[in-house]
Amino acid sequence: VPPQGVHHIGIAVADLDEAVETYRKLFQAEVDHETTIADQGIRAAALQVGGETLVELVAATEADTPVGRFLAKRGPGMHHIAIEVADIRAELTRLAAAGVNLIDTEPRTGLFGLQVAFIHPESSHGVLYELVQLPDDDRGTHG
Ligand code: CO
Repeated sequence: VPPQGVHHIGIAVADLDEAVETYRKLFQAEVDHETTIADQGIRAAALQVGGETLVELVAATEADTPVGRFLAKRGPGMHHIAIEVADIRAELTRLAAAGVNLIDTEPRTGLFGLQVAFIHPESSHGVLYELVQLPDDDRGTHG
């Protein structure tokens, strides 16, 4: 089964509150939800930009975390593109069999209750892709 399409775009930001204000100003975007995942060192906000597009702003709570290291190395900017799939386990199995370098070989719980797994940018021309599977009660809806 091919993916459903882009679920959200992930942007790494230095200051979450400031970035939310920027998106309000630029696109009259509204915050859909906001969360902190302490053990991953992430503070994030998902914003609805127009009717269809979800942008995930991700900030680091500590320097020594994946997003903190990304910010130190590359600065704020494009971080990942999330692709929605119907069955994330089946996709990971298919990709592993195809020799794709996976950061997560098993799905894990990501932001906002999504099941997520990342593909290594080495296998995707430098782009970090996140596969997401929506919780059962959200199937077929966005955001
Ligand atoms: Co994401």
